[in-house]
Amino acid sequence: MSDERANTPSTDDPTLSVCDNRTGRTYELPLTDGTIRAADLAKIKVADEPGLAVYDPGFVNTASCRSSITYIDGDRGILEYRGYPIEQLAEGSTYLEVAYLLIHGALPTQTEYEKWVHEITYHTFVHENVKAFMEGFRYDAHPMGMLLASVGALSTFYPESRTISDPANRHMQIVRMIAKMPTLGAWSFRHAQGKPYVYPDNELSYCENFLGMLFKMSEHNFRADERLVKALEVLFILHADHEQNCSTNAVRSVGSSQVDPYSAIAAGIAALYGPLHGGANEAVLKMLRRIGSIDKVPDFIDGVKSGKERLMGFGHRVYKNYDPRATIIKKACDDVFAVTGFNPLLKIAVELEQIALEDEYFVQRKLYPNVDFYSGLIYEALSFPPEMFTVLFAIPRTAGWLAQWLELVDDTEQKIARPKQIYTGDRTLDFVPRQQRWT
Ligand code: CMC
Repeated sequence: MSDERANTPSTDDPTLSVCDNRTGRTYELPLTDGTIRAADLAKIKVADEPGLAVYDPGFVNTASCRSSITYIDGDRGILEYRGYPIEQLAEGSTYLEVAYLLIHGALPTQTEYEKWVHEITYHTFVHENVKAFMEGFRYDAHPMGMLLASVGALSTFYPESRTISDPANRHMQIVRMIAKMPTLGAWSFRHAQGKPYVYPDNELSYCENFLGMLFKMSEHNFRADERLVKALEVLFILHADHEQNCSTNAVRSVGSSQVDPYSAIAAGIAALYGPLHGGANEAVLKMLRRIGSIDKVPDFIDGVKSGKERLMGFGHRVYKNYDPRATIIKKACDDVFAVTGFNPLLKIAVELEQIALEDEYFVQRKLYPNVDFYSGLIYEALSFPPEMFTVLFAIPRTAGWLAQWLELVDDTEQKIARPKQIYTGDRTLDFVPRQQRWT
């Protein structure tokens, strides 16, 4: 509650004193966790006018929730899931264990882990009608569009998922979604290639099964190189959550209407589809190809500094330091290339990074490699076409979206998302009938 008082600084409970120069009144607004409640501003008003509001396109400085899932310190380059540093999770965990951690809030015991892996493994199949639905897409359909539509369609196969107040029901949908995403993602990939869809193999791990559904042809048992499976696990762990970004905000915003989780996650996939969110690694690959060789790097950097273009895969809205995910991915490149053969574009990327990290232009602006700088190189080495890159992001991010959705559903402070606007249009016009307007 805001309180209109005399302007005396308080030391016990931190407050913000706001003087409204229109009225000369001073208000003391409680400060909690470095924020004020936007609703408290509404009490600052002149006569019958609407109270004060905050104008914040893109939510650049507005906290929309309290969350205990992911912590980012952009200045120091820190990323933690439930308090665990991303580096340690990437080194020692599996994607499914990280998914459990994000969703349940703690690492699983052995029994919990085995049960969780079993549940996920035994929900990877989808209804045959989903397969028929996917087969109905045009031969050249974008895999991300297919994934988005198929996840939305799942809500019609599980109508009970609308009962979001029941924890057991929620758990069932969470298991289904994490389990089925690789199946839907792999089938959207096979579709564009005109290849038969491959059914899940319950003998394989989560990531190996995904690789099998992507690449298996006539062999009886598919086995992927362990180093590639590990690299995919690492990439999945790194992409599992990233607090309140555009797609997570979409999941929370749509989820706040209390719709079923399939529809809420479909909203997240739609947001991720956009080039400003999920598509930068593809742009990095194009850029590296255009540069072509190491000797062209200095000229390219000069072009960036003179404002002709951007160094794709560099810079971040939150990280003003090395994106910790980029460091881990760079290391994973070596493991992947040991199997697939060296990608000469890596040399250009490393040279670009070296020059940029020492150059005053990039240093001053705190521009460092982000997660997308090296990930496209790995995806390409794994034989993925660029259209698949965003699908490879959406599959692991599902765990993060679901953890955020669950937190939203349990948060008694949350309401249906309904931002204010500043109306700039006409008012009180009188309607003129068509006959009069058109003469
Ligand atoms: N290359 C060259 N200059 C840059 C770059 C870049 N990649 N990024 C920012 N700058 C400059 C920009 O020109 C501006 O300079 P000045 O102050 O002289 O006008 C200054 O740095 C600040 O840039 P900004 O655009 O205000 O920064 P932002 O926080 O709004 O943008 C960004 C962040 C990621 C959109 C931007 O850095 C960018 O376009 N990077 C390239 C695209 C990219 O790699 N995107 C992937 C982001 S990571 C994805 C994820 O986490 O999900």
